[in-house]
Amino acid sequence: MYIRHLQVTDFRSWDHVDVPLEPGPTVLVGQNGRGKTNLLEAIGYVATLSSHRVATDAPLVRQGCERALVRTAVVNEDRELTVELEIAAGRANRARVNRGAVGRPRDVLGILRTVLFSPEDLALVRGDPGERRKFLDELLVQRAPRYAGVRSDYDKVLKQRNALLKSAGKKRGDDPYAASTLDVWDDHLAKAGAQLLAARLNLVADLAPHTGEAYAGVAPDSRPARIAYRSSLGEALPEGYGEPGGERADPERLAEVLRVALGESRAAELERGVSLVGPHRDELDLVLGDTPAKGYASHGESWSFALALRLGSYELLRGEAGGEPVLMLDDVFAELDKRRRARLAEVALGAEQVLVTAAVDEDVPAELTGVRFAVAEGEVTRD
Ligand SMILES: Nc1ncnc2c1ncn2[C@@H]1O[C@H](COP(=O)(O)OP(=O)(O)OP(=O)(O)O)[C@@H](O)[C@H]1O
Ligand SMILES: [Mg+2]
Repeated sequence: MYIRHLQVTDFRSWDHVDVPLEPGPTVLVGQNGRGKTNLLEAIGYVATLSSHRVATDAPLVRQGCERALVRTAVVNEDRELTVELEIAAGRANRARVNRGAVGRPRDVLGILRTVLFSPEDLALVRGDPGERRKFLDELLVQRAPRYAGVRSDYDKVLKQRNALLKSAGKKRGDDPYAASTLDVWDDHLAKAGAQLLAARLNLVADLAPHTGEAYAGVAPDSRPARIAYRSSLGEALPEGYGEPGGERADPERLAEVLRVALGESRAAELERGVSLVGPHRDELDLVLGDTPAKGYASHGESWSFALALRLGSYELLRGEAGGEPVLMLDDVFAELDKRRRARLAEVALGAEQVLVTAAVDEDVPAELTGVRFAVAEGEVTRD
């Protein structure tokens, strides 16, 4: 798939800009702070309904404005769809497809698929487990949009259950009413959690070979890289789940395992007032040779690992139904040595569409000559 047209209004630093795009490589060059990343962020928002830089929508709306508009025309196998999003801080977004309103913004997920590699991705390796869970869940949604609903159901159940644990824990003693209400919420959490957990495990099983291969490609002299899902279920996780070539994770079976685990940890949960088992406590382990990447890997190794996670995601998505994702490389060539640059350029050249940003032309490998835009104060002009 590719984006044929991007239009943004009052998004970040942009009051209004119209950019016609083409398949193949497109390079956006401009000085720091001119709004290059803002454009990729706008595109990423259409694909994921979230920003890779901020957790709330407020900073996305241009200062002094009420709402931002992002419109993309997306071509997927000769079929074109126009997705328009209205982003308003503090209230629900509105979405339109081909100028007609859709039920929920979530309904646009899947129309545009993107993989973005950006300087923020160092946090995938060095940041908290939450960063890696977010990485998995976002990829899950790109892979199958229905997981946006699964994810949000799980978050709701978790919140309610935690509130109940807190209030029941305070009362202490045996409160039969609280106990039976908790039973009900255990059941909800187990069901919703098992859906999410099974999907993550199967994702990691499928992603792991691509990531290992991508890492070997960008850092052939380094120790091999490996990813593995670490579940809060520990030993109770059925054998082979989450492993390449292992048994596919079954949500029904996992719901049962979760139910048992929740029962076993109830006393501890009441004492602490939080849910201690479930996908919200899980981790994606990143391992180099036999040491964890986090806390041990060098800057270059961490950066290569982050790149491998993105390239692995890209390879995974492009090999499945739904349309080849648009690849976006934000300001990443300057950080890489010669060999890594060449490897990334090679992947980029094979992409149906790749959007590259850089502060100066010299940062972009010569092979990636495609369409070039100059990004200057308030305007984008094609060279
Ligand atoms: N909500 C907003 N309203 C107005 N301006 C904003 C808003 N959010 C960010 N900006 C401005 O956008 C600019 C940053 O844009 P962006 O990150 O896209 O730059 P860039 O071209 O990618 O720069 P670099 O080369 O340094 O990465 C900053 O000057 C910032 O002040
Ligand atoms: Mg930038």
